Amino acid sequence: MGDLPAYETRMGQAYCGDSMKLIEDLPDASIDLVMTSPPFALQRQKEYGNKDQEDYVDWLVGFARKLKVKLTPTGSFVLDLGGAYQKGVPVRSLYNYEVLLRFCKEEGYFLAEEFFWYNPAKLPSPIEWVNKRKIRVKDAVNTVWWFSVAEFPKASVSNVLVPYSERMKKLLKDGKRWYDPKERPSGHDISDGFGLDRGGAIPSNLLELPNTESTSWYMRACKELGIKSHPARFPARLPEFFIRLLTDPGDLVVDVFAGSNTTGEVAERLDRRWIAFELEREYVASSVIRFCDDVEQAMHAYRCILNGQQQVSLRPIKQPVLSFASSANTTT
Ligand SMILES: C[S@@+](CC[C@H](N)C(=O)[O-])C[C@H]1O[C@@H](n2cnc3c(N)ncnc32)[C@H](O)[C@@H]1O
Repeated sequence: MGDLPAYETRMGQAYCGDSMKLIEDLPDASIDLVMTSPPFALQRQKEYGNKDQEDYVDWLVGFARKLKVKLTPTGSFVLDLGGAYQKGVPVRSLYNYEVLLRFCKEEGYFLAEEFFWYNPAKLPSPIEWVNKRKIRVKDAVNTVWWFSVAEFPKASVSNVLVPYSERMKKLLKDGKRWYDPKERPSGHDISDGFGLDRGGAIPSNLLELPNTESTSWYMRACKELGIKSHPARFPARLPEFFIRLLTDPGDLVVDVFAGSNTTGEVAERLDRRWIAFELEREYVASSVIRFCDDVEQAMHAYRCILNGQQQVSLRPIKQPVLSFASSANTTT
């Protein structure tokens, strides 16, 4: 990379700048996973720079084009997109589906699988349609498109198994007593392997993850230091799920709309290399908190980055690795 990072850690670097330009400096076929959440295409201009819905899709497709050659042949691109209403009417924008179609039809990506991130803690909106007139329900689901460069991207579901349901636990304990058909009414053949404990159940593509991390170190430290936290973070468990599913330790994970650098922090904890690009210096500066041990170190690093004074090098973080399986939704 030509530019100096704003800060670097054992596993990664965070850069301040326009990712459209920064992407060019990455070597071709170097990224194993792009995990990102762009500024949403809402009607109101939010403080972190939303685009009008009309040119939003064109803008996003530009990133897809540039990133394609930077991904490894087995690489993936996971894109979290919030839904939106058209301006002034209770009718949904189709922008997230347009993004999906254009990435695949024009840029040559494959849709490996579509995911839905269900956030039970999401507030009802728009107030006019949901709360006042009561003609639409709460929209609590984001579409998360898993794109791949090829038909068989690197992936291992064994890395994201979720806890068995109570029913499945009973089956595993004493299968014959509870369930013994060879074929389900649907015609699905249930083999003897069904009763084997494989360490967890296969998750579904509905990821139930509340976005309530008010007690996280990042949030507590921002509060203590009087620094504004990023307004549109995703929960750590979202990148964690895809990083575990789609990469191995040592692989490179890139977030081109890094915000508070949730992706970088999770990648670091999981021993993946990471690169984060973020346009706003303020957000880059506050994201360094994630990699600091105490508030003094965090304040010093934050000020250095904000003033563009120096490149800050940080010690590896000590917190334990997160566990997706500990709180994810359960299926059999
Ligand atoms: C939805 S937020 C990402 C939040 C992030 N996932 C987190 O957990 O904190 C999108 C971010 O993209 C940044 N952004 C917008 N355009 C950009 C660009 N061209 N280059 C780099 N960052 C950009 C915005 O400043 C904003 O912080």
